[in-house]
Amino acid sequence: MLQNPTRGTAELSGAKRYTITAALPYTNGPIHIGHLAGVYVPSDIYSRYLRLQGRDVLFVCGSDEHGVAISMKAKKEGITPQEVIDKYDGIIRKSFSDFGISFDNYSRTSAKVHHDTASEFFKTLYEKGDFIEEVTEQLYDAKADQFLADRFVVGTCPKCGNEEAYGDQCEKCGSTLNATDLINPKSTITGETPILKSTKHWFLPLDRYEDFLKEWILVGHKNDWKPNVYGQVKSWIDGGLEPRAVTRDLDWGIDVPLEGAEGKKLYVWFDAPIGYISSSKEWAAREGKDWEPYWKDQDTKLVHFIGKDNIVFHCIIFPAMLKAEGSYILPDNVPANEFLNLEGNKLSTSKNWAVWLHEYLEEFPNQQDVLRYALTSNAPETKDNDFTWKDFQARNNNELAAIFGNFINRVVVLTHKYYDGIVPSPNEFSEVDEATLTELKAYPAVISSSIERYRFREALGEMMNVARLGNKYLADEEPWKMVKTDPARVQTQMYVALQIAAALRVLCEPFLPFTAGKLVETLRTETLQCNVSTTKTTWNDVATNSDLLPSGHQIGKGEILFAQIDDEQIQKQIDKLEATKKSNEADSFVAFPQKELIQFDDFAKMDLRVGTILEAEKMPKANKLLILKVDTGIDVRTIVSGIAESFSPEDIVGKRVTALVNLAPRNLRGVESQGMILMTNNAEGKLVFVNPDADCVGNGETIN
Ligand code: MF3
Ligand code: ZN
Repeated sequence: MLQNPTRGTAELSGAKRYTITAALPYTNGPIHIGHLAGVYVPSDIYSRYLRLQGRDVLFVCGSDEHGVAISMKAKKEGITPQEVIDKYDGIIRKSFSDFGISFDNYSRTSAKVHHDTASEFFKTLYEKGDFIEEVTEQLYDAKADQFLADRFVVGTCPKCGNEEAYGDQCEKCGSTLNATDLINPKSTITGETPILKSTKHWFLPLDRYEDFLKEWILVGHKNDWKPNVYGQVKSWIDGGLEPRAVTRDLDWGIDVPLEGAEGKKLYVWFDAPIGYISSSKEWAAREGKDWEPYWKDQDTKLVHFIGKDNIVFHCIIFPAMLKAEGSYILPDNVPANEFLNLEGNKLSTSKNWAVWLHEYLEEFPNQQDVLRYALTSNAPETKDNDFTWKDFQARNNNELAAIFGNFINRVVVLTHKYYDGIVPSPNEFSEVDEATLTELKAYPAVISSSIERYRFREALGEMMNVARLGNKYLADEEPWKMVKTDPARVQTQMYVALQIAAALRVLCEPFLPFTAGKLVETLRTETLQCNVSTTKTTWNDVATNSDLLPSGHQIGKGEILFAQIDDEQIQKQIDKLEATKKSNEADSFVAFPQKELIQFDDFAKMDLRVGTILEAEKMPKANKLLILKVDTGIDVRTIVSGIAESFSPEDIVGKRVTALVNLAPRNLRGVESQGMILMTNNAEGKLVFVNPDADCVGNGETIN
């Protein structure tokens, strides 16, 4: 709870306008909670907050539709890259709109405006002599008849030893790589070891930007960039930068707009960030605005929201491109987040280890704000964090429902009960009332201060403290106890509680936009024409206006804001993940290659009998061995079997088995084994008996 009402008086930065970007998602799959937590919810909170401040905001994003990720997905699904991007662009757009991510524009890099913008950008740099043109040896897959770049090649990272590093980047240590740096490279198309082949490309000489980057970031942003971002950037710059190819020999992407470059494409990380600019242009054309001030005016604050695997591209490569071009501003901040895990494991599209947004909404319809809340409370702002369904349930039941929902519900119900839903006129304020209202007015600045420093978890906590303030006020004042005896006092109490509810409706909007919408309806604040400057209460009205809900104003009935989420719903989600884990294990089982051929005579020498295990015990001091007594139909004999790690003796007594009885006896740890029990692997790769099926008996023939 707020101790000192004057703390956190945020000094609002003087920017005239804000350009806010959220990393363009690859359209090679749908969006999951990791994307939402890392990039889209924080950027949306920030944008919504600034709009409530009355700021001029342009919030852009779009689909990242070039590059090897798309080609690979197309190959895998047996469709064209165009079909892949159309499919996922549609799914992703819908998820963003379903979750209330309030982009001013969502574009796609296959759009003409983007192809034109990226080509122009390349040509400008080319004409200014900013590239090095060079023929070098690159990895080539002779079998696929194709150069290997980026995700078409994996190998061991020379920096950290990760064996699954890509040709342009190691996702484990975050280093950017050149494909030829990889140790033991392998083509992901054919599995072949690539050969080297000469080809011409254009390189951005990053080494020439070292001084600029040092001055701009290492000196200029030492104190305002997040330590995780600053630290990564510093270590790259300190390690020395090298020229980096910005073109590729690929068949999917934007053509290199030069003569003599036929068949070559722009590197996806060259074109994608330019997508922020193209998206802004698309917005401006639609809205009849000018895009240029949003990218070129020094009074504009540019902020890139990204995940940590994108840091080098947004802090080094793209700024070097912008600097080379010369007319653009540079980002003021790049508040990259770390990664979110799911139930202890890394989120993975290919392993289906994810909570997909479109699936979430099927299970929890209209509960977008619950997920937004859970992800923000647990946002991976300073370190990797874990999403668990139990935590999700607790956040809803113990926080959203028990604190926020409960407060609003009490205020609304009591106002209807006592005053038919009309805000009462207050009488004289007590000391507690005054202190409560003063405390309330301090919250906008407190929350602002956290948001402006990109501390969204902290900001969310402070917003919830407003609901806590309301609950505490009602619990201490207990209007229900004195409504009969002191109605004048209760009028004042309810008036105060209603002001807190009205403040919450504004302060929760960046975090819980759907809830804010419901509160607008319940409190009917859109129709309000009172002391507030506009019909819509803004962030600062909460700090300056004492009369957010004036006496005489009629409020609506409202609904329960947050329903309880029960154990059964949660267990269903946990079970679903368990099933995914099992099926992944089964998929990763690789059958042994077939052994060399044998002749029929070799096989016919084996004498196989159906037997029954009569006794079983562990071989002393051996982990793997069981000593079995088996009734073979001819005799009862001892067979030592190496299955103790998979079966315990008590489980297999009485089991019918197939035994090879004419195997020459062998001495195992002093016990003579007279035969062998036949075992195999089932579809999940687990050891099973070759078990004679008692229900499936032929009609009398014997093999001999
Ligand atoms: N598609 C990239 C990813 O998912 C992000 C691209 S961000 C942009 O990692 F700046 F290039 F747009
Ligand atoms: Zn690495």
